[in-house]
Amino acid sequence: MNINSNTTTICLLGHPVKQSFSPNIQNYLFEKYNVNSIYSCFDVDKDRLEDAIKGIKSLGIGGCNITIPYKVDVIKYLDKVDMSAGLIGAVNTLKNEGGELKGYNTDGVGFVKSILDKGYEVKNKRVAVLGAGGACRSIAIELANNGVYSIEIRNRTINKAIEIKDIIKKHFSTEISCSTEPINQEDLNNIDILINTTPIGMNSDECPIDEKIKTNDTLVCDIVYKPHNTKFLNWAIKQNLDVVHGIDMLINQGLHAFYIWTNIKPSKKDAQILKEMYLK
Ligand code: ATR
Repeated sequence: MNINSNTTTICLLGHPVKQSFSPNIQNYLFEKYNVNSIYSCFDVDKDRLEDAIKGIKSLGIGGCNITIPYKVDVIKYLDKVDMSAGLIGAVNTLKNEGGELKGYNTDGVGFVKSILDKGYEVKNKRVAVLGAGGACRSIAIELANNGVYSIEIRNRTINKAIEIKDIIKKHFSTEISCSTEPINQEDLNNIDILINTTPIGMNSDECPIDEKIKTNDTLVCDIVYKPHNTKFLNWAIKQNLDVVHGIDMLINQGLHAFYIWTNIKPSKKDAQILKEMYLK
């Protein structure tokens, strides 16, 4: 890539940022689509987020991704927030629109795209989501936005699940319920798509559901990503179920951020190439 005085910088702000795959995603896309931009990472200290955001404006940085722990805190420094990101209450992508910063959230869009790319529909489907953190919020809101029939949230802390239920109830016609009960066999018989949004399986070999229960017709999705399958996905694969890996969501949220910055829609093939790059 020819970096010159016209090159626009796009970046990641977070703490930590060292293990991020986002530079690989975006620099691959900039090169492939001949966009004169470069993507780099900035590790921002907790008390310097406001300075960092002012810097984005004053340096004319074209946009950025926001990662842990700033997805919620960043909102107060923005000029505008996209409607879905406002409902989610978290932003993972900023675009510098002529000096005004607008916030978006591409996590849910990336997740839904991962399901559609597998050849599955989400419209009218019955969905169960394990966990009720930020990832559940963005996924549940985007699923509701895409016309799922019902969403069942299971989380050990009921209040967090109720908050999400209330948002969905207020803005969408999706059936929504929540409980602290683990998913059982009867629940599973009535679910088309099962999604783990807890970090269970990330740093351990644990499974977020009882591995004795069985299904023959559920799409199983895990937002945990690592080079090997999680125990949860292996539980599904053993039953010949189709699965969506966390890395698919990560890549597709990046592809959507690229679209927000450039107006160029990357292809499904790009997602495949990036996944192979990650798994190498
Ligand atoms: P966030 O997505 O907001 O960063 P997180 O810490 O990744 O949050 O956790 C996501 C969800 O997984 C949370 O709802 C969390 O449950 P609580 O609401 O009770 O905190 C859930 N979670 C995390 N670890 C868990 C565990 N070991 N067992 C069950 N649920 C867990």
